Amino acid sequence: MVTHPRGVETVKGYMSYTIAVAGKGGTGKTTIAGLVIRYLAENKKTPILAIDADPNSNLGDVLGITPKENIGAIIDEISKNIDKIPAGMTKDRYIEYRVQSAIEESSSLDLLAMGRPEGPGCYCYANNTLRNINSKIASDYKFVVIDNEAGLEHLSRRTTRKADCLLIISDPTPVGIKSAKRIYDLVKELNIEIKKFIVLVNRTKDSQDKEGIKKEFSKIKIDDLKFVPNDEEVLKLSLEGKPLMELEKGSVALEAITSIMEAVCR
Ligand SMILES: Nc1ncnc2c1ncn2[C@@H]1O[C@H](COP(=O)(O)OP(=O)(O)OP(=O)(O)O)[C@@H](O)[C@H]1O
Ligand SMILES: [Mg+2]
Repeated sequence: MVTHPRGVETVKGYMSYTIAVAGKGGTGKTTIAGLVIRYLAENKKTPILAIDADPNSNLGDVLGITPKENIGAIIDEISKNIDKIPAGMTKDRYIEYRVQSAIEESSSLDLLAMGRPEGPGCYCYANNTLRNINSKIASDYKFVVIDNEAGLEHLSRRTTRKADCLLIISDPTPVGIKSAKRIYDLVKELNIEIKKFIVLVNRTKDSQDKEGIKKEFSKIKIDDLKFVPNDEEVLKLSLEGKPLMELEKGSVALEAITSIMEAVCR
C-alpha cells in the first residue's frame, strides 16, 4: 500500500517505464509523444503520466486534455502569496503538494505541464520541482512519457536525468541527422542513464534514401533506427487544432508508432 500524492491510499507502486522524447525544434517530438501515448492508452498500458516539459506547452492540445494548472503558474502564485503557505509546511513541500494536486486526472491518463514561471531564476526552480516530483510520483504510473522542449538544454540542465527509453526524433535532412547525433553524444558525455536509444526519423517520404540515413547513424551505438512516414492526416489535424486522438485507425504514422511501441513494450 502506498500513499497516493493526492492523499488517497492506493495499491499502486508500479515499476514505471519512462519514455523521454528529445530532438531539434519542429521535428515532431510532441506529435510522436502524442502518438506513443495514444498507443499506450489504447493497448491498456495504463495508468500513464504524460509530462509536458516544454515551457511552450502543447502536449495537452495534441492529447485533447487541458491541464488544470501548470508548475510555472503554481510557483508564481505561491511566491506572491508566501503568507498563505499552511503552517508547518515548507515552501518547497507546499509547491510539491500543489503540483501533485494539479495533475489532470482521467481514468487512464494524467497530464502534468511545466508551464513558464515569470520571476528570475524561476525557470530553474520549475525544472527542479519537475525533477523531484517526477521521481516521487512515477511509481503511480505504469508508463511516464515526457515531451521535452527542443534542443539540448533539458539534458544539460538534467531535467532528463534518466529514462528507460529515449526517443531521439530527427527529420530526414542532414541538419536533422547531425542534431540527433549531437543529442546522443551529449547524453553519453553527461552520463545520463538511458537504457535504450531509439532514433525515429520522422516525416520520411517514399523517395527518401533510407539506406543512406541508416549509414549515417551506423556510427553511433543506438538500439534501433525507425522511420515514421510523413502523414497528411497528422498535419491536417494539427492545422485544424484537433487532437491526435481523432486520427483515424490506418494512419501511416500511427501504424509506424504502433510497431515501434510493440517492440519497446515487449
Ligand atoms: N509524421 C508526420 N507527418 C506529418 N506531419 C507531421 C508529422 N510529425 C509531425 N508533423 C507536423 O509537424 C509539425 C511540428 O510537429 P511537432 O509540434 O510535433 O514538433 P515538435 O518537435 O514538438 O516542435 P517544437 O520543437 O516546437 O516543440 C506539426 O504541425 C505536426 O503536425
Ligand atoms: Mg513540441
